[in-house]
Amino acid sequence: MKKIALFGICGKMGRSMLSELILEEDIRIIAGFDKINIGTDIGILTGREISGIKVTDNHEDIKLAKPDLIIDFTGPEVVYKNILWAIDSKIDIIVGATGLTKEELDNVREKVKKSKSKVFIVPNFSIGAVLMVMLSSLAASYFENCEIIEMHHDKKKDAPSGTAIATSIAINEKKKFNASKFLTDEKETVEGSRGAFSDGIHIHSIRLPGLLAHQSVIFGSKGQTLTIRHDSIDRSSFYPGLILAIRNLDRLPNFSYGLEALIEI
Ligand SMILES: NC(=O)c1ccc[n+]([C@@H]2O[C@H](COP(=O)([O-])OP(=O)(O)OC[C@H]3O[C@@H](n4cnc5c(N)ncnc54)[C@H](O)[C@@H]3O)[C@@H](O)[C@H]2O)c1
Repeated sequence: MKKIALFGICGKMGRSMLSELILEEDIRIIAGFDKINIGTDIGILTGREISGIKVTDNHEDIKLAKPDLIIDFTGPEVVYKNILWAIDSKIDIIVGATGLTKEELDNVREKVKKSKSKVFIVPNFSIGAVLMVMLSSLAASYFENCEIIEMHHDKKKDAPSGTAIATSIAINEKKKFNASKFLTDEKETVEGSRGAFSDGIHIHSIRLPGLLAHQSVIFGSKGQTLTIRHDSIDRSSFYPGLILAIRNLDRLPNFSYGLEALIEI
């Protein structure tokens, strides 16, 4: 039985994942962490019976509950602090929250080397999205350039998305497309028109109500383009990847990044 503390339990992802996790026979949610609805029974969050477990914003309460694993769906302002706390507390952590900077990621990678806990950072739990990244990396060798368009709901706090950054990193490891943001004879007449620039790739971020999580990776070469597109149309798309991560964490090293660590093509 895996004992899990769910961080960001009152948010959209937290509630959605909670409603599926509580149905699993090999998992028990033993604590819920959030800055809102403190003291609310977590059963109420999913419209179920009272569980006796109350939402807390106190890390000490989490420690007392003795979880085997933390799953973090908080957000960019607090996720880094939570990871460092989990490492110090010798608790494994699967991180779904996005918005970690490169420097923070490097610090976590270093810190966890000397620790007893595991950190698994998964910017996207959607298996389809992970395959999109892996297939993009495969296609990169055969094209002259590539740009990414990522589209998310208008409540998303960070841009570009963690998945877009992960895609640019994966492609850049395979092929270096652009040494600088602009070609020598290129200029923006309106600032930002060429989007962001990460790992040699332009990324364009769209935020609109009505969207959930979507990404197109567009490759171009003479006379042809290839578009690899993925759409998450419902938060349930993230659950199979989350449960895969939970059940396979034991076979991963102390630090892993991306669900790719568990998927073979
Ligand atoms: N990995 C994935 O597959 C995946 C999928 C969707 C969203 N996300 C990421 O998950 C995170 C949460 O997304 P969401 O849509 O549920 O957002 P949300 O805003 O609905 O939920 C975030 C929750 O975290 C809580 N929180 C924020 N700061 C806190 C703090 N300082 N202390 C305690 N609790 C705090 C909020 O109160 C809220 O309940 C985001 O970073 C998002 O980008 C990841």
